[in-house]
Amino acid sequence: MRLVLLGPPGAGKGTQAKLLQEHFRIPKISTGDILREAVKDGTSLGKQAKEYMDRGELVPDAVIIDIVQERLAAADCRDGFLIDGFPRTVAQAEALEEMLARRDLALDGAISLRVPRKELVKRLSGRRTCRQCGTMFHIRFNPPKKDLVCDNCGGELYQRDDDREETIEARMEVYDRESAPLHEHFRDLGALYEVDGSKTTDQVFQQILRKLGKAA
Ligand code: AP5
Repeated sequence: MRLVLLGPPGAGKGTQAKLLQEHFRIPKISTGDILREAVKDGTSLGKQAKEYMDRGELVPDAVIIDIVQERLAAADCRDGFLIDGFPRTVAQAEALEEMLARRDLALDGAISLRVPRKELVKRLSGRRTCRQCGTMFHIRFNPPKKDLVCDNCGGELYQRDDDREETIEARMEVYDRESAPLHEHFRDLGALYEVDGSKTTDQVFQQILRKLGKAA
């Protein structure tokens, strides 16, 4: 199974990616997580990416395409993968298709999560993530048992720098301008699976499985 997850900031891509990874036993590649890890480690990629991420802008295509290309070449991606956060531009989608075509492969589908804007802002402003294990919570929709403490590993929960109100607005604008055209791109290829992402996490997951014809 070779899948990509599309959707605006806060649509639930990371949440669904984790469930799909476990269900299909395929590696999950999150370009946002890779970049945040590089920022945390203070690498040159991290220093370069931070400026774009803090402004809510996209990291340049060439940088991201190299990262994904390298990751997809790893042995664990041979039998399938799920990418969360890539492609985000038509140029990135075309680069991915070329990478796969060189190995006689193609995507099985692009899953698009649709969520109304007002709901996205609520989700992003209430998101809290564990510094240690990356588990995600929401202060209202999925609160941790103990304030600011991860239920999974006891790590500290934090709010992402780009989840501040003004940065959320910038990310939404970038999404509309750069990423929304991807729907047409994948629809034309007959590979688009649109899902109502405003339902509960489990309902969204079940919809995805049904769309893929893989319902349990
Ligand atoms: P990235 O980390 O990919 O961020 P994003 O696309 O903005 O998406 P988010 O992680 O904010 O949201 P999500 O859709 O994963 O939702 P989540 O599951 O967390 O990218 C960050 C930055 O990195 C970009 O701005 C850019 O600068 C750079 N970057 C990354 N990839 C790039 C690329 N390819 N090219 C260029 N630059 C790139 O859920 C959000 C919240 O809602 C959580 O609290 C969750 O618990 C809650 N929630 C989830 N589902 C539900 C539900 N069904 N009901 C209620 N609450 C829910």
